[in-house]
Order: sequence, then C-alpha cells, then structure tokens
Amino acid sequence: MNKIVEVLPDTTALIQRSLEVVVEKIQAAIADRGQCSIALSGGSTPKPLYEALATQDLPWGQIHVFWGDERYVPADHPDSNQGMARKAWLDRVQIPAENIHPMPTAAADPAIAAQDYESHLREVLQVQGQALPALDVILLGLGDDGHTASLFPHTAALQVQDRLITVGNKDGQPRLTFTAPLINAARYVVFVVAGANKQAALKEIFAPTADAMTYPARLVQPQGELWWLFDAAAGQAING
Ligand code: 6PG
Repeated sequence: MNKIVEVLPDTTALIQRSLEVVVEKIQAAIADRGQCSIALSGGSTPKPLYEALATQDLPWGQIHVFWGDERYVPADHPDSNQGMARKAWLDRVQIPAENIHPMPTAAADPAIAAQDYESHLREVLQVQGQALPALDVILLGLGDDGHTASLFPHTAALQVQDRLITVGNKDGQPRLTFTAPLINAARYVVFVVAGANKQAALKEIFAPTADAMTYPARLVQPQGELWWLFDAAAGQAING
C-alpha cells in the first residue's frame, strides 16, 4: 500500500486538491485501460467536490460512476447519495445514462438489492466468477464515529469477506455498502475529510493500534494508493 497524507489549510483548498487528485486518477485510468470506474461517497463533504467535477472537461463516455454506499431510500429522497451526486454533478455533464450505476433501493429486502448490485457491478466491470473487481477510484468520507462508506462500528457488515456488496446498518436503518475487500481491491482510494469533529476518530485511525471494529476506517488498507486529504481542522488530529 502506498499511503499519501495531505493537510490543506481550509475546506476550499481541500476541495480544490481533491479535484486535482480525482481528475488525475480518472485520466490515468483512462490512459491505462480506456475507461475509469469511480465509486462515490455520500454525506455532505463531497458535494462541493462533485460540483467542481461538473466544471471539468472529461471524456464522460469513458467514465462509469458507481456508489460506495447508499441510504435505503428513493433517489428523490433528501438523504439519497445518488440524488445528491446527480444534482451536484451528473445532471450537469454529458455522461451517458448507461454509465451511471446507482445502488438499487426499491426491493423490499435490502439483501436482495445488495445481491443485485453485486451482479451488476461484476457485469459492468466484466469480472468472471468470484474474482474481486478492482475499481479505479473509490471516494470515501469519514464519520465522526470512525465509519466509512456504510461500514458502521460493531456491525455485521464489517466482517463480510465473501461479498462485494452488503447491507450496512446505521442505528437500525439499512444501508447498502461496499465491503472492505471490495474497497481494498481498488487502484486508488481517496478519503476526503473535513472538520474538527473528525479529529477524535482520526487519532484512533492513525494510531499504531486500535480496534477496527470500533474504528472501521482502519479496515481500509488497499493494495493500491491510499490518499487521505484533510482540511486543517481535521488534520490537526495527526499533526499533533
Ligand atoms: C454516507 C457516507 C458516509 C459519509 C460519512 C461522512 O452515506 O453518509 O457515505 O460514509 O462519508 O458519514 O459524512 P459527512 O461528509 O457528511 O461528514
């Protein structure tokens, strides 16, 4: 694993740097393999990054967009990660509709939706059998409790090793989420983290030892590049 840590002076600089890194990795993937697969994080931090990506002149027909996790709500629900990314970015660029791969949230049973998305991911990435697909870019955020994607502390999702997609659980609310093995198979994993409220979790995540069941972001140990991009408010946690 090649870990890169950068602390930017403020949120504006964090978003600008995140844009540079993400665009660079998208272009590298397309140069190497003719296309880029990118999985998006949700929550509030990445919204300005998505708005900035909407201003870029990229070969959208060669980019396939997935989600690393999703709240189990319709796309038009205010909590939908899909809805946020479409409004902030995807509705503003000429990306073919078939290149956008939202997590399905209509099935009564989220476990069925997880299986369906896993099959779809394998099909789009043309991965045979039980092989682990390597997405090019996976964007991640960090909760103040140390969760990432929808891998919440002390939940069953943290232990899932034999699936790509599983059902997360936030205070009893179902989520769909990438599993740790799928995240760790990516070529470039990019955390974008802002705010002093993330410091306590970051201290544990960057500590030599801590319990990954309590701080699930510790499970993210990709074979490829691991980028941690912070604003100063969050980054103080590791600068001492
Ligand atoms: C989600 C996200 C989640 C998020 C963190 C941080 O669906 O909420 O994928 O993992 O990245 O909770 O959220 P903020 O960026 O809003 O702090």
